[in-house]
Amino acid sequence: MTEQLLTVQVHKRQLQGDGVVVLDLIPVGGATLPAFDAGAHVDIHIAPGLVRQYSLCSDPADHAVYRLGVLKDPASRGGSVGVHDTLLEGSEVQISAPRNLFPLAKAARRSILLGGGIGITPMIAMAYALHARGEDFELHYCGRSRSRSAFLEQLQSVAFADRVFTHFDDEAPEQKLDMDAVLGQAESGVHIYTCGPTGFMEWVIGDALKRGYADDHIHREYFQVEVDNSGASFEVVAARSGKSVQVAEGQSILDALADVGIKIEISCEQGICGTCLCDVLEGEPDHRDVYLTDDEKAANDQILVCCSRAKSPKLVLDI
Ligand code: FES
Repeated sequence: MTEQLLTVQVHKRQLQGDGVVVLDLIPVGGATLPAFDAGAHVDIHIAPGLVRQYSLCSDPADHAVYRLGVLKDPASRGGSVGVHDTLLEGSEVQISAPRNLFPLAKAARRSILLGGGIGITPMIAMAYALHARGEDFELHYCGRSRSRSAFLEQLQSVAFADRVFTHFDDEAPEQKLDMDAVLGQAESGVHIYTCGPTGFMEWVIGDALKRGYADDHIHREYFQVEVDNSGASFEVVAARSGKSVQVAEGQSILDALADVGIKIEISCEQGICGTCLCDVLEGEPDHRDVYLTDDEKAANDQILVCCSRAKSPKLVLDI
């Protein structure tokens, strides 16, 4: 499956807050940017073999530009540092078409958007979309401090600024996120969206569940996911070469394939990005990713080999 990539140019680059680069990407050569829905991300092909996903945080109604924000992560495996160091104004880069794993629910009566730190990015696009639809929503932006947070100026000047609330750890207690006031008790038709550091998301999700919100009304986008490779050993057959390998307990399919010389392209290695997607010809996958939709998982004809395993003793892959 060869994906069609789009070449874009960094039209504007701004450093905001503490270590966040905000990039405005425009098409080159008279191309147009594909439309996107709020919550979508694009893959940025930073360098050969280095692909990372970043949420679009521009107004989905604006077809002239894609905006994204990238936090420089000191523990980066090359992704965020590569973006900061190489994507300068005027430079060109290849990106995928937008893909949305974090869509807005269709018929919400009210939406509560809770972004922690750089997790604010998909929430901004969602707020633009909800405002354009005339829907009821609130956007809550939580961070360690005002000076370290990006996008504050933009959020003060948007048409929905009266629906934006900021909460900083080092400011007065009255402005801290008050879950009793924001979430209250679950009401029908109210949907919650959260994105940010794992601890922040677990706090939001746990609190919302305790308040009676249904799990399918709590929408989440992960930056980092724990990979669980536990489970019985199974055989993987690479149909094109006929090579076969036993995947040990605690080992990923990816690593087992590498042991017999089969290299699969990877990026996140956490089941988030979809780069390592392979077609399944035989056998039943044990899906452990957050990339495939429930329907795609139920079809059992694709697998992400960086994190998923098998429920059947043998998997035959179209590789
Ligand atoms: S490498 Fe990202 S899902 Fe496998």
